[in-house]
Amino acid sequence: MSEQEHASAAESTSEKLVELAKRRGYFFQSSGAYGGVGGFYTFGPQGAALKGNVEDAWRDRFAVAEGNMEIDAPTIMPEPVFEASGHLDGFDDMLVECPDCGESHRADHVVEDNTDYEDAESLPIPEVEDVIAEYELVCPSCGAGLAGQAVDAFNLMFATNIGPGDSDPGYLRPETAQGIFVEFPRLKEYARNQLPFGVTQIGRAYRNEISPRRSIIRTREFTQAELEYFIDPEADEPDLSDVEDVEVTLYPASEQNAEDGDEFRTTIGEAVAEGIITDPWVAYFLGVAKPWYEAVGVDMDRFRYRQHLAGERAHYASDCWDAESEIDGNWIEMAGFAHRGNYDLSKHAEHSGDRFTVFKQYDEPKTVERATVDPEMSYLGPEFGGDAQAVVEKLEALAARDRSAFDGDAVAIDLEGESHEIPVEKTGFAVEEQTEAGEHVTPHVVEPSFGVDRTVYTVLHHAYHEDEVDGEERTFLELDPEVAPTFVGVFPLQNDDELESEATAIAAALRDAGLSVTYDESGNIGRRYRRQDEVGTPFCVTVDYESIEQDEGGVTVRERDSTDQKRLAIDDLPETLSAIRAGDLAFDDLEE
Ligand code: GAP
Repeated sequence: MSEQEHASAAESTSEKLVELAKRRGYFFQSSGAYGGVGGFYTFGPQGAALKGNVEDAWRDRFAVAEGNMEIDAPTIMPEPVFEASGHLDGFDDMLVECPDCGESHRADHVVEDNTDYEDAESLPIPEVEDVIAEYELVCPSCGAGLAGQAVDAFNLMFATNIGPGDSDPGYLRPETAQGIFVEFPRLKEYARNQLPFGVTQIGRAYRNEISPRRSIIRTREFTQAELEYFIDPEADEPDLSDVEDVEVTLYPASEQNAEDGDEFRTTIGEAVAEGIITDPWVAYFLGVAKPWYEAVGVDMDRFRYRQHLAGERAHYASDCWDAESEIDGNWIEMAGFAHRGNYDLSKHAEHSGDRFTVFKQYDEPKTVERATVDPEMSYLGPEFGGDAQAVVEKLEALAARDRSAFDGDAVAIDLEGESHEIPVEKTGFAVEEQTEAGEHVTPHVVEPSFGVDRTVYTVLHHAYHEDEVDGEERTFLELDPEVAPTFVGVFPLQNDDELESEATAIAAALRDAGLSVTYDESGNIGRRYRRQDEVGTPFCVTVDYESIEQDEGGVTVRERDSTDQKRLAIDDLPETLSAIRAGDLAFDDLEE
């Protein structure tokens, strides 16, 4: 198959998946009764259960198994949070409006979709305007020329007012991370002031995307599962021995920039040793995440880690690798693994005045020289009036930062844009020896940030299969038992009171064993199997006359992928199917 044929075949898989998702209750555009609204999706009964299972699997691995704390913070936060985080000023996408139909589009996407530019997001706005003009790019909706149209920076945050009136602006959080960062002063207490520690959160994030697209891949309300891991950059090292043998496909920035560059396979250990992944913490979490993705059903032949190019990184990140999955011949980002340095905690400390540090105790107390000031208020008061305290703070900060500023007769400080000279003899400047038990450290943050919706989409897309059974085409989702929303379907063979009563009792016993069960008595048995195949239900149990008429007559258990059937004892079903669900037993190994 040519690349193009492959892409179009894959694209039709996507279209078929979206249809199946609607038909079988995975996901569909929300508020359909009112015409639907772009970028908002409802997860139906199967989708909500699948998403819940993916979230549980994430929680087990990234919170419980790693010994991290999980929190649940509000989704609306006040404006100062986002002034500090940089989202108010810098969380923008490039918007271009069609002069004819008035439709808004992401200018970088228009460029990427119609030229050889792969990373237009990293280009400055004037350059994007030039590319649009040079290539004579047109509106994707109506075909009108976009050359000469202004490209604007559009802030993606949804704004609201907290309480009546507009004096207290707030925003729906664009990432769950900020809910963790702002609570750091309290969270560090729960961690007993000991670094490293991690805090996780699974919750909604909101972005007013200019052009939401590809169903749940780019929406305006979505779920993130984020881990903020706080480390002392001077002291904390991850134990890479647990992940060094994990095999990964990497596509580093150097390969993306090289003319004949390509992705390649290696191990986490080798990638660190060769300096391909420079930060050991980022390497550690890439190593933890890969088997997790595999366990929830992402096809490892369609999975890679791609490093961000320099211009692509978020305003807070010093390095970032994305987990990407292949969908329809394109790569989509499912998660980002960023090194955020001390950007967020420093900014929140600066803006809030609270302490976003951890006190790090030295092994032995240290004697250090400290420059201090003890200004004469009898001088500062008359000179500066109500600004005298601000001057004291400026002098303290200057002494700590640059003691040589006090070498001359006078020291210069800047107050609201005006420079003032203060005689050094009035500042009480001194350098003293002090014995200190430790120091206040602003932790650095390493952040694995997962998009739950894109993971769910990838799991469904990679699970989608078509084959032929008994001369009939069938569609089935090869979902892993750990995440499949419905684990077993129970059917009476025919509409018959006795069969229905036995099947109902079996369904109840399986539910009591903690399995998710669907009971179905409508339509012929073949149709019921096909229905569950499309839902991705790993097993179906059929109760027939032999089941009720013979002692230990058993039931037929059918496995979804192979369609193989086995006769199993009714009493053993809860235990046997639970063992298969837990991965302790395989259907193939079952004795009839
Ligand atoms: N705290 C870091 C952060 O938010 P991000 O790369 O902007 O980083 C993390 O987002 C993940 O959230 C992405 O990898 C993606 O899976 C998901 N995501 C981001 N925007 C999304 C959108 N509009 N629709 C669905 N998922 C989205």
